[in-house]
Amino acid sequence: MTDLSISRIQVGKELERCPFPIPVGWYVVELSENLASGEVKTIEAFDQDWVMFRGEDGSVGVTDPYCPHLGAHLGEGGVVVGNNIRCPFHHWEYDSEGWCKEIPYAKSLPPLAKKCAVLHALPVQERYGLIWAWYHPERLEPQWQIPDVPELESEGFVPVRHGAWPIGTCIQEIAENGVDFAHLKFLHGAPEIPAGKARTEDHVFHFDIGDGHIIGENHGPGISVVRHTVEGVTVLMFSTSLAVNRENTLARMHFTFQDYPEGSKERQMAEHVYQHSIGEADGEDSAGFEAVDMIIWNNKKYRPQPLLCDGDGPIFKFRKWFSQFYAEDH
Ligand code: FES
Ligand SMILES: [Fe+2]
Repeated sequence: MTDLSISRIQVGKELERCPFPIPVGWYVVELSENLASGEVKTIEAFDQDWVMFRGEDGSVGVTDPYCPHLGAHLGEGGVVVGNNIRCPFHHWEYDSEGWCKEIPYAKSLPPLAKKCAVLHALPVQERYGLIWAWYHPERLEPQWQIPDVPELESEGFVPVRHGAWPIGTCIQEIAENGVDFAHLKFLHGAPEIPAGKARTEDHVFHFDIGDGHIIGENHGPGISVVRHTVEGVTVLMFSTSLAVNRENTLARMHFTFQDYPEGSKERQMAEHVYQHSIGEADGEDSAGFEAVDMIIWNNKKYRPQPLLCDGDGPIFKFRKWFSQFYAEDH
């Protein structure tokens, strides 16, 4: 009894910190290089388990973990056969879109299985060496595209550097950082609070901080494309946040910049901006998100009615824009 009441109190506390459902959008669920052909993995995303597998033809499925037959968990003993995942319990097979392709002992497939996919599979794309899944609580088809980021697909840029950080808060709280101009001075060591502009365009939120110093776009809740320019050198920070559950996010960052010659001034500057963004730079520069934002995020609470002042960034504009991604009541 005592244990139960303690856990109930803790759950209540956590929900109060992040009172939001999982937002609709494209999310990176894995790096392509971490899912080999024939591999099966279980991941936690969007408040549940999903089973991810790669067929021999390279196609990736991200599906509900429980078999539509008698409910075995496909991630616990399921194997890839050709391009399908085979359930460990009675060897039914499903393709990456969730269609039942084989029942080894049936004369014909059940009528429903002939008409539609019976295993819930998320729409999946692979781009930039990343596996993307589209989440919508009502299972609607993708409503926008993964953004084009030329630096990630062009020659002449250094190999993309990937990082991933688990963070104990919801995506909205992390994404709001982009329009919190005041914290750039107090947390990240900017000499002054920079001036910034922001505008919305459907599912895209544009911001420009310090007259072109930082130019960013959020595409839906989980994606931001940020270009940070110092003395003519631009570093791309592409961040993709995965909504693991209502209170936890896996923040991924993908960095690249022009492949300036080793030892050149530009190369040094690019490396410096990169290190500074993460928080690995030496001495007083160690003020990137790993060193400072993460402590705030892991411990803060969402304030629905924050007390703002005239020096704050466009927090409410951002929240209004972000609210379009909540398809469920909250
Ligand atoms: S439970 Fe999966 S095949 Fe029977
Ligand atoms: Fe920050």
